[in-house]
Amino acid sequence: MVATVETERLILREFRFDDVKDLYEYASNPNVGPNAGWTPHKNIQESESVLNMFMRADNLWAIVYKENHKVIGSIGLHDDILRSQIKDLKTRCLGYALSYDYWGMGIATEAVKAIQEYAFNVMKLDLLSVDHYPHNSRSMKVIEKCGFKREGTLRKARLSYRNEPVDIVTYSLLKEEWKELNGR
Ligand SMILES: CC(C)(COP(=O)(O)OP(=O)(O)OC[C@H]1O[C@@H](n2cnc3c(N)ncnc32)[C@H](O)[C@@H]1OP(=O)(O)O)[C@@H](O)C(=O)NCCC(=O)NCCS
Repeated sequence: MVATVETERLILREFRFDDVKDLYEYASNPNVGPNAGWTPHKNIQESESVLNMFMRADNLWAIVYKENHKVIGSIGLHDDILRSQIKDLKTRCLGYALSYDYWGMGIATEAVKAIQEYAFNVMKLDLLSVDHYPHNSRSMKVIEKCGFKREGTLRKARLSYRNEPVDIVTYSLLKEEWKELNGR
């Protein structure tokens, strides 16, 4: 179960059984998954099994566009594998993907800012991390606009959707930095 989060144009809520059509619609587009590390869905059955995982996952939200009530993406706070051994640090790694039809409207930025607020205010995280593939300049823009600090490039640190080792550019944001940025 995740708490619902609302923004001006979006409702971020848990995934439901009847989201399968919307999920398939955006996740079958070849521009979406590969940039986030997963293969485009080949059929609705694949979306059904991913949806089953999504419904069991912690801290994963469906991005619903208020204007038409459609699920147009997902955003989640995943395990921060890099820092998993630092027991006293509350940290998560942000991930997101958005339907191709809604790119370039500032929607990812709006969703990320709302989840940052949730991460630091509700979950009381100490640090939030995020990364992108070096070629993904759209995601880079979102990350920079949301105040994350660039740490560097980790070479061959992730498997691509084709199972090949690829570089990632990593970022993080400390709770104190987020507070300062947002006048808290
Ligand atoms: C990355 C993604 C979530 C961005 O979503 P979005 O809603 O389009 O992002 P926003 O509109 O909030 O911001 C995109 C920014 O990139 C800029 N941009 C658009 N096209 C660009 C391009 N070709 N190169 C560089 N920047 C670009 C936009 O101008 C905008 O910046 P601005 O507001 O300063 O003008 C979306 O493209 C996506 O789902 N991609 C596939 C999955 C993915 O990459 N997930 C992230 C994995 S790290």
